[in-house]
Amino acid sequence: MKRIAVLTSGGDAPGMNAAIRAVVRSGINKGWEAFGVGRGYLGLVEGEMGSLGVRDVSGVMRFGGTFLGSSRLSAFKEKPVRAKALKNLAAKRIDALVVIGGNGSQAGAKALSDNGFPTVGVASTIDNDLVGCDETIGVDTALNVALEAIDRLKTTASSHRRAFLVETMGRNCGYLALMAGIAGGAEVTVVPEFDTPPEVVERELRDAYDRGKSHAIAVVAEGAKYNAEKLVEYFKKTEIETGFGLRATKLGYVQRGGVPTGWDRLLGTRLGAGAVELLSKGESGKLTGLVRGGITYTSYEDVIGKTKPLDPELIELARVLAE
Ligand code: F6P
Repeated sequence: MKRIAVLTSGGDAPGMNAAIRAVVRSGINKGWEAFGVGRGYLGLVEGEMGSLGVRDVSGVMRFGGTFLGSSRLSAFKEKPVRAKALKNLAAKRIDALVVIGGNGSQAGAKALSDNGFPTVGVASTIDNDLVGCDETIGVDTALNVALEAIDRLKTTASSHRRAFLVETMGRNCGYLALMAGIAGGAEVTVVPEFDTPPEVVERELRDAYDRGKSHAIAVVAEGAKYNAEKLVEYFKKTEIETGFGLRATKLGYVQRGGVPTGWDRLLGTRLGAGAVELLSKGESGKLTGLVRGGITYTSYEDVIGKTKPLDPELIELARVLAE
């Protein structure tokens, strides 16, 4: 191994910069040269690649987002598009590529690897839907943003005796919503993995009102069958009365932005360094993750297209604590 490249792809996640920094500095420490690809797979296809030295990654850790830029490139599934990327990697004499991103990004890394080019993945997405990593880069920051929002909403909700539907991101995975529901003390949490009919949301809010609560919070995952918009529609159509005035807040991209927490900086650092460690052993074709506190490498075959289940015990915990 002599020359490695790194890219960030898909939805950005706070902590990605720490991962890039770790890849660059760990690689250089091994006597290799490091290169950064701009704008994810789009930059790879368009040949946007430059050398990165130790000083080029100074001070990046404390910023959210990714200083390399990111993109979503569905065309990367097409062989001729990937052929352009492979040509650019060959032109720069790159020996291996580290891909920092979520599911779609790791599918791209697998495709390159299947084409014979060595790649290693780093698990990074606020959705936490990647098999092979207990909690991916960005989740902790996104969760803390959601919690701050819930705390704030509770103060205004109490003043008006209102119930809030708070929608979190997460695509088809309810992890972020479930954690926000538990740690935010929600009355009810709605996730895509389990069917929660709107009548249940209504009942929980009504019960909270009848128990004399000054406010109630329903945390709803964007990917749930009844997300905030659908619930608002339902409540309007059925003219349901929970006692509370009802408002909805979609947290959206706010969760992806901002300063990474200490945990996400450490996680990004450990996973980035871990990816380089794997390459130094002459291995590739795996996702670098953190499982039960230790660095793990899971083959792409066991990651791509697989669904990470939500822990049913945590779902039950959310229900019990909402009493
Ligand atoms: O995958 C991360 C994520 O933020 C999801 O939670 C969300 O559904 C999606 O990205 C939004 O995608 P985009 O940034 O392309 O609008």
